[in-house]
Amino acid sequence: MRASATACSNIAFIKYWGKRDFDWNLPLNDSISMNLSAAVTTTTVEWDPALRQDEIYLEGERVLDDRGLRVSRYLDRIRADWYRMYARVASVNSFPAGTGIASSASGFAALASAALGAFGEDLPSEVEMTRWARRGSGSACRSIQGGFVEWTAGDDDESSFSQQFCPPDHWDLTDLVVLVSRSPKAISSSQGHRIASGHPFMAERQKLLPARILALKGALAQRDFQVFGEIVEHEAMEVQGIMLSGEPSALYLQPGTVSLLHAVRSWREEDGLPVYFTLDAGPNVHILCESKDAPELRRRIDKLAPRAEILENRAGPGARLHDDHLF
Ligand code: PMV
Repeated sequence: MRASATACSNIAFIKYWGKRDFDWNLPLNDSISMNLSAAVTTTTVEWDPALRQDEIYLEGERVLDDRGLRVSRYLDRIRADWYRMYARVASVNSFPAGTGIASSASGFAALASAALGAFGEDLPSEVEMTRWARRGSGSACRSIQGGFVEWTAGDDDESSFSQQFCPPDHWDLTDLVVLVSRSPKAISSSQGHRIASGHPFMAERQKLLPARILALKGALAQRDFQVFGEIVEHEAMEVQGIMLSGEPSALYLQPGTVSLLHAVRSWREEDGLPVYFTLDAGPNVHILCESKDAPELRRRIDKLAPRAEILENRAGPGARLHDDHLF
């Protein structure tokens, strides 16, 4: 009863920030993302009737802290629906942990796939798998399918799921993730969702989003990079505005973040390079371009931030089961 799965993380173009239900990770609004081909998690799960408790290994180390507890609580949900057995779980990331890349998205998409795959039965439908991933971490539901994905907020566990909007080869986009800082976040994304949900600007944001989502989907469908980039950058700044002005305030931006944001705007506005950025709940900058422009942008980033690590992502595939087990 063992299975392994690999899943990409994803970057949201329209963000999930704020929840209507914290137990089931039901979001306040629909969101849209692209899978990140260079930011993947691989997880092996083995259900073992001889175990007296779950054994969780992250990056080769047994974990007994909150991270292990979160995985065990998630496995409790699966146990409640399937078989009452403990599991051995091992998980590794292709990118450095704790750097603000959404490892919970790739992590829970891979965990859901491996844990259900290990029962040796047919996996539930893809849409049902997105619900399973969402119950672990909201954004994980957008990592089950490949390419460009839309998460419909819904209003209960049944109606909140993701669907592929366009396959990975629809558009040759690149997301250059510049790892600006490795310091841990002062405000976790769970806390951030709580603060955002009660934020006075949130009601106004909800009114604006349906038209923005429609426009973004149009730009994606037509591969209109300028319209796409303008919407995505504006969305990132709106969400940062909510983070910054929350109580307490979440200041995820580091000096290195801000200097990159200025650089992207000057490369675009002064040098005419088609490039935009987005941000997540962290200091790293996601620099978005069409892939033909990626080499030139990498040169510029290297010059500006010579020591910064860069993850170069294309639109990545969906979660998949395979036989390269970690144990
Ligand atoms: O899935 P969570 O609870 O880690 O939330 C992640 C939220 C953002 O990454 C900041 C935005 C998003 O839509 O992925």
